[in-house]
Order: sequence, then C-alpha cells, then structure tokens
Amino acid sequence: MGRRDDGYHELSTVFQTVDLSDQLTLDLDARGVELTVAAGAAPAGEENLAYRAAMGFLERWAPETGVRIDLEKRIPVGGGLGGGSSNAATVLLGLQRMLGAPASRAEMLELASGLGADVPYFLWGGTAWGRGRGDVIETLPDLQERSVLLVTPPIGISTAEVFGMVRTTQLENRPPLVDDGLMEEMRWETIQEGWNDLEKTVLARFPLMRDVYNVLAEIGATMVRLSGTGATLFAFFEGGACPAELAADPPFGSRVVQTRTLTRSSLDRLLVVR
Ligand code: C5P
Repeated sequence: MGRRDDGYHELSTVFQTVDLSDQLTLDLDARGVELTVAAGAAPAGEENLAYRAAMGFLERWAPETGVRIDLEKRIPVGGGLGGGSSNAATVLLGLQRMLGAPASRAEMLELASGLGADVPYFLWGGTAWGRGRGDVIETLPDLQERSVLLVTPPIGISTAEVFGMVRTTQLENRPPLVDDGLMEEMRWETIQEGWNDLEKTVLARFPLMRDVYNVLAEIGATMVRLSGTGATLFAFFEGGACPAELAADPPFGSRVVQTRTLTRSSLDRLLVVR
C-alpha cells in the first residue's frame, strides 16, 4: 500500500497455511536456551528466530526455566514461506502451553510482532488478513483445503532488498481485494483475482524467477504467483496434481513440493504436549 515513516511498508495481504512443516521438539530439562538443528540447514543459536523467541518468552515469564529446542528443518530457508517466522511462533505457543499460559494473548502478539512482521500470523494460522507491517492480523473464514504446488528456485532473495526496490509508482492502482466488506466472501476466486505487488519487481530483478514462472505458466498452471518476496512461487493446476514432467525434471534445479492448504482447525492437532 506504500512506504511508512518507519521504513516498513504498509501491507494488505492474505496469509494461508500449507501442509509443509518443520518439526520442533521442546524440552524444559535444560539450562538457558539451547537450539540444535537436527536435520536440514538453518542457523543454530542466537541467529535463529526460534532461539530469540524462546529467550524473549522465558526472560519475561519464566526466568528460572530453560528449554532445549531440536529443529528438523524441511521448509526452504529464505524461501519466502515464512518458515523461520512459523518456527518462532510455534516456540511461543509451545512454551505457553507447557508453562500454563503465563502470557496473555495480547502479550504473545506483542512479543511475536517484535520478533518479525510475519510472526504474529503464525499464532493463528489458517486463512488470515494481514495489515500494518503484516503483523496486524484478522482471521478470515478458512478457504477450502486444496492442492498447491510450491516451487522454490535455487536463489536467495533478501526481503529487505525487495522492499527497498519497490517504487510506489509500480503498485497496482486498484483498491485491495480484501477489505472489511469482503471478508465474509473470501473464496479462491478472490485470490485468483488478486495480485502480489512485489511480483513484478522480483521477476524483473531475478531472471531465474522469471524463467521458472514462465515454465509454470507454459505447462498449464491455472494460476502462478509469488509468495511474499520470494523465492517461492505457488501454482495451482487443473485437477490439483503436479504435472509429471515437472516432478520428474524440476525447472532450473528448483525445489518442487506438492502439498495442500490447511484450515485453522487442522492445525490444532499438530501441537502435542507429552
Ligand atoms: O520484520 P522482518 O524482519 O521480517 O522484515 C524484514 C525487512 O523487510 C524489514 O527490515 C524491511 O526492510 C522489510 N519489510 C518492509 N515492510 C514490511 C515487512 C518487511 O519494508 N511490511
């Protein structure tokens, strides 16, 4: 929607959970915060947002308690899927559950927002509308679950760089599709009619992104769109299934994940306290 005085950009965006997850195991039998990455690649220790989430929570609500976090990473890092933000929010939800809910919902949201603009969304999940920096969340009626293909080209895209390149003159000169009046009418058709204002900038700046985008359009995707600032593109196909040629030979070495969207109610069963 434009640049703000604090340097961030004002957003009107739809968030949607998909069935691609990392596994986080939290154990309170620890001193301080320890984070190990058991599988996949992600920063260990303080550099990881999940670590900072645990520090923030425990410092404020359980200073005598420590936690060991084991992270099995499957969501592409730097892929624009919010994997790091999701991990951070999950740590907050896990600690909140394990320690008897010492924080209020408002306090959780404030802590999450301080960790990153995308973190508050993951305290809700499902289909939601993000405003402000993306951190002001209103849940929307859940979109029906459907198959979605996630295609992540082998390229690192910096969120700050993309936002830094966007010019207000490049934004769609249309009102956002989701506003107060439309909230009850959210359907996949609404998403189809929508757009991502960062897409043009990203496809122009990174030719590889344009190439992969074109492949998906050429093989018949009914919709291809950039997720956030990238690098992941998401696509829908008639009948839902990923075309065989794409699975067999991912374009330009991209990572291809066939998954589906998840509603909020499907998420509850994923947080298990033993
Ligand atoms: O909040 P987070 O650390 O995820 O944001 C990373 C960077 O992306 C910010 O430093 C800012 O440059 C940019 N950003 C923005 N507008 C937003 C969200 C992020 O300009 N709404």
